[in-house]
Amino acid sequence: MTVSSAPGKVYLFGEHAVVYGEPAVPCAIERRATVAVDAREDDHIRVEARDLSLDGFTVEYAGDTDDRPDVDVPSGLVDAAMGYIDAAVEQARDAADAPDAGFDIRVESEIPLGAGLGSSAAVVVAGIDAATRELGVELSSEELADRAYRAEYDVQDGQASRADTFCSAMGGAVRVEGDDCRRIDAPNLPFVVGFDGGAGDTGELVAGVRSLREEYGFAADTVESIGDIVREGESLLAAADPASDPEPELLADLGRLMDFDHGLLEALGVSSRTLDNMVWAAREAGAHGAKLTGAGGGGCIVALDETPETRTALRYTAECRDAFRAELDREGVRAEK
Ligand code: MEV
Repeated sequence: MTVSSAPGKVYLFGEHAVVYGEPAVPCAIERRATVAVDAREDDHIRVEARDLSLDGFTVEYAGDTDDRPDVDVPSGLVDAAMGYIDAAVEQARDAADAPDAGFDIRVESEIPLGAGLGSSAAVVVAGIDAATRELGVELSSEELADRAYRAEYDVQDGQASRADTFCSAMGGAVRVEGDDCRRIDAPNLPFVVGFDGGAGDTGELVAGVRSLREEYGFAADTVESIGDIVREGESLLAAADPASDPEPELLADLGRLMDFDHGLLEALGVSSRTLDNMVWAAREAGAHGAKLTGAGGGGCIVALDETPETRTALRYTAECRDAFRAELDREGVRAEK
């Protein structure tokens, strides 16, 4: 058995705009998806997943992932998750030049599905890493990130950036602009995550921004303004000492940019009432700034607060199901076994 894990992420800035070539800065967080893979004698795929839905699920089918029957499960989210697992299997088969390889796959995740914390990217990155190593192939982290991106790109019908998958493969804070992806220095920012228990449909939300952008010049300008916020935020990070706790001025400045970014994402139609209410609860509790993270529509917000106040306030907010401190995870994909 071969086991790999990969982290989820929050977006400090830049989701959605990154799809149109603007830069984004996602940061890996210490919440992981773990994928265990056993090679099989036949070409079957058997997937057992825990924590990807409330009840977990098991699916087994033969051969080609394109021929997988629909998954008979209570949640459409699980079918979506299976799409990412199929795509990871195809990438691993291709990388190992083993088109008929069969696998028993077990997925465990601490990252809520479709909630803006990069659950699908973490499952895809860890899945490709475990499946290729199980077949005796070691991929560089760059190739792994590239294959994981191609898997997400296929599942999301060509509407994906490299941000989530690169961040999960590399860990730490990263900067992604088109095909240019690299790690950047960042101090350990005090992220607080609020989760409303829901999820958004990334494909639909990205398509919504695309049509607004095509219809209105000012929506295209809004996307570009998000890029300007990211460039401003990057220069603040570049001037900070990554080895020390962040200075209060840095947190205040980053927080103001996060608030601005959330306002523009809201204007682009990707926030929701529950996300907005959590953002306001965080701000009123004294957070330096707060914004939705990921595709939006429901799921998670991220705030900056070094005190416990924001977490406490979020826990007393009706729309919030869970609130937790998320440490920056400087390690990306990791071989567990
Ligand atoms: C989703 O986590 C982030 C988006 O920017 C889509 C993408 O970058 O692929 C909305």
